[in-house]
Amino acid sequence: MILYYSSTGNSYHVALEIQKKYPGELIDMAKTKTEEPFVLAEGEPLFIVTFNCFWGVSEFVEDFFRRHQFVNVKRILAIITCGAYLGSGDAHLNRMLRVNGLPEAEVYDLPMVTNYVILHELSPFEEQQKCFNEADRRLKLILDGCISPYRSAFRTKLFGKLVHFLYFIFRHTKPFTVNDSCFACGKCVRDCPIKAIELVNNRPVWRKKTCDHCLKCLHHCPVAAINYGHFTLKKKRYHYPGNS
Ligand SMILES: Cc1cc2nc3c(=O)[nH]c(=O)nc-3n(C[C@H](O)[C@H](O)[C@H](O)COP(=O)(O)O)c2cc1C
Repeated sequence: MILYYSSTGNSYHVALEIQKKYPGELIDMAKTKTEEPFVLAEGEPLFIVTFNCFWGVSEFVEDFFRRHQFVNVKRILAIITCGAYLGSGDAHLNRMLRVNGLPEAEVYDLPMVTNYVILHELSPFEEQQKCFNEADRRLKLILDGCISPYRSAFRTKLFGKLVHFLYFIFRHTKPFTVNDSCFACGKCVRDCPIKAIELVNNRPVWRKKTCDHCLKCLHHCPVAAINYGHFTLKKKRYHYPGNS
């Protein structure tokens, strides 16, 4: 079973690659409606694929594991895609799994193109291409068992708590703005994994004070009408090739 959560397609691409090697159910955490427990077959590993979020995993993923039960999970392999550095992402994910009574995951970091355009610039296309090739090469090594799991050092874990604290500041939806190119297609409303956005008088309005801050609305808007304060003005948008 492969559970994934992806905003701009990096983690989705990884989940698809895993499925080629380990054919099994592919489950989008953002779309699953079931309240039933997830039951694994004898000997079946549970794969978790998600993105690094301020050196941890996002609130949506935490909440998903708080709300769902799992049966017969003996081995968990987690691949966390990131823009550059996983930090304490392994420790955060494992704390969360422990709360659910799940076994510790073998966590692998997979650097891909960063979609965090609030603090970074998007790399040029040629660099992105190199990054995808390198990520695919590393993913193959991970799946072939040729790479040891990532383990953050004690100091990184401590510092990680501070880094992840920033997430609670940036999760505020107030800075989101919509410019005049918006034509009320409603894609952002449909895409938002936590239903934070509504169309009011043909304009997206963030109804919740905080969201998952996944930036799916911003990156997937067909006319790039959505910005986060001044941070993203005139910056390029991103999604993994073929994932719109
Ligand atoms: C809210 C947020 C926080 C992020 N924090 C980090 C981070 O701390 N370190 C890092 O290397 N990448 C960070 N990133 C970049 C993503 O982890 C990376 O681009 C990931 O591959 C995106 O996966 P996706 O395309 O499946 O959504 C962050 C992205 C978002 C949206």
